Amino acid sequence: MVQGVAFHDGRYMPAEEAKISILDPAFTRSDVVYDTATVWKGHFFRLDDHIARFFRSCEGMRLKPPHNAAEIKSILAECVDRAGLEDAYVQFVCTRGPFVDLANRDPRNCKNGFYAYAIPYIWIISKEKQDRGARIAIGSNRRIPDSAINQRIKNFNWMDLSRGVIEAFDRGYDHVVLLTPDGRVAEGPGFNVWIIKDGTLKTPKDNCLHGLTRRTVFDFARELNIPAVEVDLREEDLYNADEVFLSTEGGGLMPVGQVEDKIYGNGGPGMMTSQLRAEYWRRREAGWMGTKVTSLIAREPVVA
Ligand SMILES: Cc1ncc(COP(=O)(O)O)c(C=O)c1O
Repeated sequence: MVQGVAFHDGRYMPAEEAKISILDPAFTRSDVVYDTATVWKGHFFRLDDHIARFFRSCEGMRLKPPHNAAEIKSILAECVDRAGLEDAYVQFVCTRGPFVDLANRDPRNCKNGFYAYAIPYIWIISKEKQDRGARIAIGSNRRIPDSAINQRIKNFNWMDLSRGVIEAFDRGYDHVVLLTPDGRVAEGPGFNVWIIKDGTLKTPKDNCLHGLTRRTVFDFARELNIPAVEVDLREEDLYNADEVFLSTEGGGLMPVGQVEDKIYGNGGPGMMTSQLRAEYWRRREAGWMGTKVTSLIAREPVVA
């Protein structure tokens, strides 16, 4: 049984008991947006940025969650606290909600739903694989481009990403990166992609979620005087890079040792990547840009 607590419709429950209606087009049509925040050592990271991105995603799909920002923050904190988690993966979701009239199925007048849950922290790529350098495949299928779905809206239309993961795992790789239909680097299932070339950090400018860890890397770069740019990257840029890493809330800055047949250095984490990764975890441990979970809870904390 997964340790975790979920919230829906004014009620907290064990995460495994939370259910969504089969009549909700969130289920039948992926008509749903979401956000994922994490908690490390009892602190949310960039929580206000996550909430702001969530509301932007909702607006992008003309969804109106039934809770405001302050209520959502306290719901998320309750989920984490009730689950008794110090390090947590926290997801919150706005669904379209069942159609009012099945004859015309108008998405505009559905009563939108809100769900949230906290479960133990998830490493998209395990720490052990990160330490030896992740091995990444390029998917044979393409990522849905912005022209079809604005990927800045955080969405669950993951069939392209899931297909890529299955293929990469079948081929013995740790994870996958997808290209756009016109051959530019897009992103992977739950992470952004970075290359380091001649001391400059480079990441795709579009056809990807603008991750908050990605934003954190830009923040570090500014502070540490490292050039960092958003550009179009092609597959060859990955093979010609000095270092490659991935960024996500679910694992931080994840070093890549290999993309397809190309091995970087000795296949382990690159030097600049290692420095940035250490900086990321040093700051997370210290609660940098953090909001203490218990500071958002009005009542006495639940003792697990
Ligand atoms: C498709 C996709 N790209 C990138 C990311 C990285 O975003 P963040 O750094 O905000 O976790 C995510 C995170 O879940 C994602 O789902």
